[in-house]
Amino acid sequence: MGTKHVHTMVIFGASGDLTSRKLIPALYRLHLRGRLPHSTRIVGVARSKFDDESWRKQLAESTARYVGDKFDNESWQQFAESIFYCPGDINSEQDFIALGQRLSELEGQQPSDRVYYVATMPQLYGEAAAQLGKAGLADESKGARRIVIEKPFGTDLKTAQTLNRAIGQVFRENQVYRIDHYLGKETVQNILVLRFGNSIFEPLWNRSFIDHVQITVAEEVVVGRRGDYYDRSGVLRDMFQNHLFQLMMVTAMEPPAQYDADSVRDEKVKVLRAIKPFSGSDFANCGVRGQYQGYLDEEGVAHDSQTETFAALKFHVDNWRWNGVPFYLRSGKGMSCRTTQIVIDFREPPHLLFGDGDAAPEANRLVIQIQPAEGIQLHFQSKVPDQEMAMRLSQLDFRFDNKGSMPDAYQRLLQDAMEGDASLFARSDEVELAWKIIDPIIAAWRSPAAPRMHAYPVAEWGPAACSKWMAQQGRAWFDVCPVLH
Ligand code: BG6
Repeated sequence: MGTKHVHTMVIFGASGDLTSRKLIPALYRLHLRGRLPHSTRIVGVARSKFDDESWRKQLAESTARYVGDKFDNESWQQFAESIFYCPGDINSEQDFIALGQRLSELEGQQPSDRVYYVATMPQLYGEAAAQLGKAGLADESKGARRIVIEKPFGTDLKTAQTLNRAIGQVFRENQVYRIDHYLGKETVQNILVLRFGNSIFEPLWNRSFIDHVQITVAEEVVVGRRGDYYDRSGVLRDMFQNHLFQLMMVTAMEPPAQYDADSVRDEKVKVLRAIKPFSGSDFANCGVRGQYQGYLDEEGVAHDSQTETFAALKFHVDNWRWNGVPFYLRSGKGMSCRTTQIVIDFREPPHLLFGDGDAAPEANRLVIQIQPAEGIQLHFQSKVPDQEMAMRLSQLDFRFDNKGSMPDAYQRLLQDAMEGDASLFARSDEVELAWKIIDPIIAAWRSPAAPRMHAYPVAEWGPAACSKWMAQQGRAWFDVCPVLH
């Protein structure tokens, strides 16, 4: 956009937790790094009765808390001058007209690029888009108008389609930015660089060399105060449909012809299209479900809840590259540690020259650690010195950064939304396809024919049945707490 454009980020749901915990700290950090576009204003909208001053004051406190020692009073004062508050109710047409007037006053006569960040309760996402349309606030004659939608994007295929339609009546697809904060994580983006910026990995990245792929998002936390939401959602909606699928897509996708939003998303969507839908006995055999012990006592959770807090699923990506290579996805709360990792398990060497012949040595493995520390670790065999031809597994580590200064995912995503780059946001077909895969599994797991729910103790790697299930397939989970620190 032209340099004379001013920029406005309008946040709906301004008094909510996400705004104070993630959005404002991320915008403040962008300000500190000089990354906010020319003349950026931030306008908060919510029903709470703040004015500019009282909202700034509250944000100063919360931001200082979340940003820690990077908080600097002087730079905050400077940043806070660009923060405004406009009370408003998503259901009130009048309030949107008032918002439009306030935005025009703040922006003056200059052309402006606006981002409307919808971080309200999910039930209001569609209404927010409709009201923006009615008030003429999506009109692009004076600059770009984009809408960012927080997750969750629907609770199943039908609700996601309804929401896509509601947004689509007001905004064109290229104005719509659906958040999945996993895509804002540096290491997730680094998978693309690792694969497509090097020539040594991609030739091996296929069925000829890879036995299987494991994607694990383990969380140490339990549901805590989110019991009410979580019990209606469960791990398949909360983590699989969005975050785990995103990780699977970037791992399995073909190289796009160029790096732009549509080329990247076209390739990601092809992965979802290639996933073989579960049918018949798959619902029972291609996954394991679990619930941590003590879940039923959590506040907001039904005493006889059948919601899973852990799941493992096996998917097949039916195309030339991946035929016969299972993708194992698993995630759970109350696990032994917090780690997100993608493990590429390579095939064993075709003929073993070394070792004692009894046990095959562990095959090569590439561990891509997304968090807590970010980096990769390559496992390979090497000779034990001074011991004939005995082998042992050795590691080669690459750590992205150890000074703790990696940007938060929201920083990158907010900046991209302001600059109009949608590569790291989900497209409408992507979210709908993801629901299409997950919905039948949820339905089967809620039916009387659901496979058994396995209870598991907190602080372990999920149910023991899950390790058994893997062993029956001749494989083992990589149950290792963060390999990189
Ligand atoms: C959110 C889920 O989308 O992602 C949470 O609703 C989960 O339940 C969180 O804890 C995990 O995100 P991160 O970035 O901490 O791995």
